[in-house]
Amino acid sequence: MSVSVSASGYAVLAEGVVKRYKEKGQKGKQGGDGGKRALDGFDLAVRPGTVHGLLGPNGAGKTTAVRVLATLLRYEAGRAEVAGLDVAREPRRVRSRIGLTGQYAAVDEGLTGRQNLEMFGRLFHLGNRRARQRAGELLDRFDLTEAADRAATEYSGGMRRRLDLASSMILQPDVLFLDEPTTGLDPRGRGEVWEAVRALVAGGTTVLLTTQYLEEADRLASHITVIDRGRAIADDTPDALKNRVGGDRIEVVAADPGDLDAVVKTVDRVAGGGLVVTDTPARRVHAQVADRVAALTEVARSLQDDGIAVEDIGLRRPSLDDVFLRLTGHGTENHDAPEVAA
Ligand SMILES: Nc1ncnc2c1ncn2[C@@H]1O[C@H](COP(=O)(O)OP(=O)(O)OP(=O)(O)O)[C@@H](O)[C@H]1O
Ligand SMILES: [Mg+2]
Repeated sequence: MSVSVSASGYAVLAEGVVKRYKEKGQKGKQGGDGGKRALDGFDLAVRPGTVHGLLGPNGAGKTTAVRVLATLLRYEAGRAEVAGLDVAREPRRVRSRIGLTGQYAAVDEGLTGRQNLEMFGRLFHLGNRRARQRAGELLDRFDLTEAADRAATEYSGGMRRRLDLASSMILQPDVLFLDEPTTGLDPRGRGEVWEAVRALVAGGTTVLLTTQYLEEADRLASHITVIDRGRAIADDTPDALKNRVGGDRIEVVAADPGDLDAVVKTVDRVAGGGLVVTDTPARRVHAQVADRVAALTEVARSLQDDGIAVEDIGLRRPSLDDVFLRLTGHGTENHDAPEVAA
C-alpha cells in the first residue's frame, strides 16, 4: 500500500485549525463569529505508517478534530492536510483515501459479518465479485472467518468493533481515523482491537486514534498529542511525556491499616519534600522520588527496622494520568459535559 504524504512529509497535518459550533438559539450559518470554539488553533502532525494517539478528556475536541480531518465538518480557520491533500479544497479526494470508525459502531445487526462487509463493498461501488473477495480478505485479517456467517447480533463487543474496523478498511485507506475504538469493551475485547490496529499499521496504514484511555495511547501509539479545550497542549512520544513529569514513584502497600500513618511518615522522610499521596482504603502510599534505588532501599530498611509489615513495595514509572495532571492541572475528569451522550 502506498502511503501518501504532504510535501511536509506528514500523513495528517493540522495547523491552527479553528472550529466553532453554533450556540443554541444562535442565528445564521454554522460557525459564524460567535459560538464556542471546539477547536481553538489546533495543531497536529502525524508521521506516515504510525499510530498517533490523540488523547484528552471528555469534551476536549477529539471527535471534532477527527470529523474536521475526515471532511465531515468545515473549519473556519487554519490549514488541514490528509494524505497530501488539502482537506478544505479537495474533500472528495481526501474521502477516497481515508477510513473512519466513529465513536459508535456502525454495524447492521440484522446481517452476518460477511453480509455487512459485502454491503459496504457494494456501497463503495466495488462490484459484486470484488466486494465478495474483499469481504473474505478482511474477515480473515480481523480473525472473523469462523464467525463470518453468523448474525452480528450474536457477536461480542470486541468482534463487533473488529467488524466495524474491517468495514472502514474496505477501500484500503492510506489514513484511518479511529474515534475511541475500544470504549466500553472489556480488557479482552480491547486487546483484540489493539491487535487488529497493530496489524493494520504493519500493512502500511497510518492511524489517528482518539482515546480517553491513557494506557491505550501508551500501548499503541508511537506519538501522542494531548488535547485540552480545543488545543494541543503537548506532543511527544509516550516515554518523553512521562519523563516530563519527573522521576519515578515509590509505592508502598501496608499490610495492616493501623500502620498507614507510620508508612506515610517514612515515605515522607525519604521522599524529602515531594508530595506524598495516601489511598487509605487501598492502604497505599506513594510519592515521587529523585533517586529511585536509594529511596526503595531506605524505605524498605526503615520499615523493617520499625517492624512494619508491608504487603507490597516497589517503584513505578509515572503514568500518563500523572502527565495529564501535570499538563492541565485538572486530571482527566470531565471538565465539560459533552452534549452528545458518551
Ligand atoms: N454538534 C455540536 N454542537 C455544539 N457543540 C458541540 C457539538 N459537538 C461537540 N460540541 C462541543 O464541542 C466540544 C468538543 O466536543 P468533542 O465531541 O469534539 O469532544 P471529545 O473530545 O470527542 O469528547 P468525548 O471524549 O466526550 O467524545 C465540547 O465542548 C462539546 O460540547
Ligand atoms: Mg468524542
